[in-house]
Amino acid sequence: MASSSSSSSSEEDNEVFIVTTWPSLGLTPPPEAPSSPSASVGPSAASASALDAFHASAIQRFGNHYLAAHHQPNVSAATYETGSLLYAALMTSKFPTSLEIGLATGLSAMYMAQAHVDINGGDDDSIRHICIDPTQRLPKDETSTVGLQRGGWDSEGLQHLEQSKLGRVVAMLETESHRALPALHEAGWTFGVVFIDGMHLYDYILLDFFYADLMLPVGGILVLDDAWLPSVQDAAKFILTNRSYELLMLDAERWSEHGKRYFALRKTANDTRMWNEHNRAFAISDGSENNAQ
Ligand SMILES: C[S@@+](CC[C@H](N)C(=O)[O-])C[C@H]1O[C@@H](n2cnc3c(N)ncnc32)[C@H](O)[C@@H]1O
Repeated sequence: MASSSSSSSSEEDNEVFIVTTWPSLGLTPPPEAPSSPSASVGPSAASASALDAFHASAIQRFGNHYLAAHHQPNVSAATYETGSLLYAALMTSKFPTSLEIGLATGLSAMYMAQAHVDINGGDDDSIRHICIDPTQRLPKDETSTVGLQRGGWDSEGLQHLEQSKLGRVVAMLETESHRALPALHEAGWTFGVVFIDGMHLYDYILLDFFYADLMLPVGGILVLDDAWLPSVQDAAKFILTNRSYELLMLDAERWSEHGKRYFALRKTANDTRMWNEHNRAFAISDGSENNAQ
């Protein structure tokens, strides 16, 4: 895994770039992509077929391990549907970069990195997908602690990305999100799709959202994973009733987990609240976002 230096062999070209020092990240945002704006997120015919091809090849590469991760409830890995949503969101996005908080086994990152490769071609080696994870390279036991996280990943996510030949478009910031996000913002990064899937306590999710929102252009997509958790539901309610976001409604037949496993929100405007709105209690919605199908 490349760490703060460029590499030359083809093996090394697939290594994830690991950032361990900040605020000087040593990472500059890629040039704006010329892709055209898209009206909606969803399984367009093109993205669905590219996705199915990726999924089939991932099954071939990772076999039972990959399948098992997708079929066990509550494992620390994106489901096929969540991965598909992230992939489709990027394939139809006019913004060329994505951010993920929480790498773990790297499955969601694989879908997102694959979208960048499918958009930009196999020769493009700009960093397009940034993930944040404090314990990715630590051993998988309870002695590996950073902040509140217990247990590392023994580099499993990095290995999946590198074995999939996707590592070269990915950088990992090896720290907690509350340290990494301000550094990314300071360095001028923006992201068309942000996947929040790190520490799932309410205040951590809100903090992740706060910085993600600063780096998400209008029209960008925010996905909150694990929609069954009260902390995630409350964060979604806060966002939907206090900020300019809309809940995406997707075809229930293809997207059966939509609104159950994850919330997908589109940013519709920058924050326009008045400074003195602290005079009112913030509002939360009536929970109707949980019925999204
Ligand atoms: C549910 S897993 C991520 C799963 C992955 N996104 C996927 O779908 O395949 C949560 C991840 O968040 C990471 N994490 C824990 N605390 C964190 C923090 N403060 N900042 C960023 N990531 C954190 C954990 O190490 C773990 O890898």
